[in-house]
Amino acid sequence: MKIITIIGARPQFIKAAVVSRAIQENNLISKNTKIEEKIINTNQHYDANMSDVFFKEMHIPQPHYNLHLGGGMQGAMTGRMLENIECILIDEKPDYVLIYGDTNSTLAGALAAVKLHIPVVHIEAGLRSFNMNMPEEVNRILSDRISTLLLCPTDTAVKNLKDESIISGVYNVGDVMYDAVKFYGNVAKPTELVKQLAMEPYFLATVHRAENTDDIDRLRNIMRALEMIGETQRVILPLHPRTRKIMEMNKIILNKVSVIEPVGYFDILFLLKNATVVLTDSGGMQKETYFFEKPCITLRDETEWVELVQCGANILVGADYNKILDAVRKNKVSENVFKEQLYGDGNSGQKIIEILQQRQK
Ligand code: UD1
Ligand code: UDP
Repeated sequence: MKIITIIGARPQFIKAAVVSRAIQENNLISKNTKIEEKIINTNQHYDANMSDVFFKEMHIPQPHYNLHLGGGMQGAMTGRMLENIECILIDEKPDYVLIYGDTNSTLAGALAAVKLHIPVVHIEAGLRSFNMNMPEEVNRILSDRISTLLLCPTDTAVKNLKDESIISGVYNVGDVMYDAVKFYGNVAKPTELVKQLAMEPYFLATVHRAENTDDIDRLRNIMRALEMIGETQRVILPLHPRTRKIMEMNKIILNKVSVIEPVGYFDILFLLKNATVVLTDSGGMQKETYFFEKPCITLRDETEWVELVQCGANILVGADYNKILDAVRKNKVSENVFKEQLYGDGNSGQKIIEILQQRQK
């Protein structure tokens, strides 16, 4: 069986690490069909600390193709990716194309494959925010519509697809990000810089979503709230390059917050594990905060990870200064909320391989 995996953005490196590992295990120990995986990296994310660090730490196989297509406008970026991926798929003729999540790389991969009648396998299918202003929501809905196998992380995701009459090829395999935390959480070692910063109690924050960075009022409100928290509490903010650039352009300066460069996976696991509270607009970090049994304050108006809000582990505060500070004041979450296995059992990678193997028979 031949698979082409398409990745390009930070969270996709982390998710694909899990499945590549499961493929390698399949090839080593199982009597199943061997799987040949070739990776296309669109390089949507290209800075070393947004990309290379994950390949090194997580031992992701080197991509066969690096396309260097990051940056620029949404449409242009997606179009360039589509054109380049199509050429590769014509040459490689894979049995399946694997795509992850909801980025422009995801949609470009799905479109290129479906037009060549290559079955698309969407990992992290079925998530919905019901906010079509988000580029991610557009990418997900379109990718799901043209996928052959829709591998969902939650029951909610399965139901979302059912509501759109997508039933065939749908499986709940759990969340590959839980596999990643379980596996790498045991081997991760932080850097000295991060260890030093984490010596005293701290809140961990990340901000990068378009709805927060491209709306300057929202961005100012969030940063003003982080500054206020920083008056009495260490706040560590590994800053996404998108946000850094927009803050620099708009002269938004933080004096009370420990702003650092984006960190690698090992550092972020350490920071999540030892934080008092996490404030974030990241999809992945909402779940990771749950895995580390910490309260999450989500800087968004809605979330795809609704089960976290329902169980009380996560509170949505948008970009509202008062709501953010209010949530910080009431940051207690009962330990019981972390007892449920909302995202599977940490064996999603293996389940994905089993589904592919069964389909091949
Ligand atoms: C993308 C995804 C988003 C995901 C995020 C993960 C889309 C539409 N968005 O958003 O869903 O949550 O990745 O982090 O695909 N930049 C750099 N260096 C880098 C990467 C980005 O400087 O290594 C800067 C560039 O100025 C770039 C901007 O960040 O233009 C935005 O990058 P882009 O990949 O378009 O979107 P993200 O905000 O990263
Ligand atoms: N992450 C990281 N370093 C950082 C910030 C985040 O390794 O400085 C990890 C984070 O723990 C999660 C993934 O990147 O596993 C999430 O990516 P991001 O927040 O960029 O995207 P999203 O999940 O919102 O699409």
